[in-house]
Amino acid sequence: MKNRYAVFGHPIKHSKSPLIHRAFAEQTLQTMSYEAQDVPADQFETAVKDFFNHGGKGLNCTIPLKELACLKADILSHRAQAAKAVNTLALQEDGMIFGDNTDGIGLVRDLTINHGILLDNARILILGAGGACRGIIRPLMDHHPQSLFIANRTASKAVALAEEFSGLIDIKGCSFDQLSGRQFDLIINATAASLSNDLPPLPAGLLADNGNCYDLAYANEPTPFVQWGKINNAGKSLDGLGMLVEQAAEAFFIWRGVKPDTQPVITRLRNAHAMT
Ligand code: ATR
Repeated sequence: MKNRYAVFGHPIKHSKSPLIHRAFAEQTLQTMSYEAQDVPADQFETAVKDFFNHGGKGLNCTIPLKELACLKADILSHRAQAAKAVNTLALQEDGMIFGDNTDGIGLVRDLTINHGILLDNARILILGAGGACRGIIRPLMDHHPQSLFIANRTASKAVALAEEFSGLIDIKGCSFDQLSGRQFDLIINATAASLSNDLPPLPAGLLADNGNCYDLAYANEPTPFVQWGKINNAGKSLDGLGMLVEQAAEAFFIWRGVKPDTQPVITRLRNAHAMT
């Protein structure tokens, strides 16, 4: 029987994870299956039990299951503990379930390796203070930026999140208004605004010369934030497709111990976009 892997989420119909993981498996000659399964939050517990009892070896968990997956894991990686969310579950030899969060490392790899964007000493701004923001703070901090600002519509959430990670670097939370007069080398959009084709209210002059923009969301057309970056002369204004493939590659490595080559898969998805 093939080793079984899957992504659970709700909704899950448009997930690109099966395509990505099947491409990795083909490329690295791994015998495995990978399916998408629609699992609402109230069915998560039963679905996970059933999956691991029937040959399941590893799971990806996406919206709205990442916090539940964190509770379900017997052992958590440091980055999953910091994120308080899990996107990868792996069944260990001893029957314990290991939980990890590969979103942040996926972002960092796409920024630094695929796009050559330096994080060391950078002034970084994250827009949004929800789960997506929480998941990327620690991996960004590991690259020693000069400072990290978190700006959010509900400023108190940004302040509380910054407080939680304070002490290691210069990190502050604020409202969008309070960004006036400041400049950043990298602005990351971690709000859910792109999903409704919306854009957080950003003051002019926010992006430093040769600064870069990155939207964690991706879409067939440039997102409003990617467009904002282009209008504001960003060196690069990128969407999150590369991050999606990189976080999958890290999950694949946890499960199979093999690192797939991400570039051909990113290109394939980009080209598929262009054709739709
Ligand atoms: P996720 O897990 O994707 O981060 P979330 O925890 O619901 O989802 O957080 C969504 C984030 O997007 C929040 O920071 C939210 O701002 P509030 O905390 O003020 O709600 C932000 N957000 C959602 N829609 C937005 C919009 N139209 N403009 C600006 N920020 C938005």
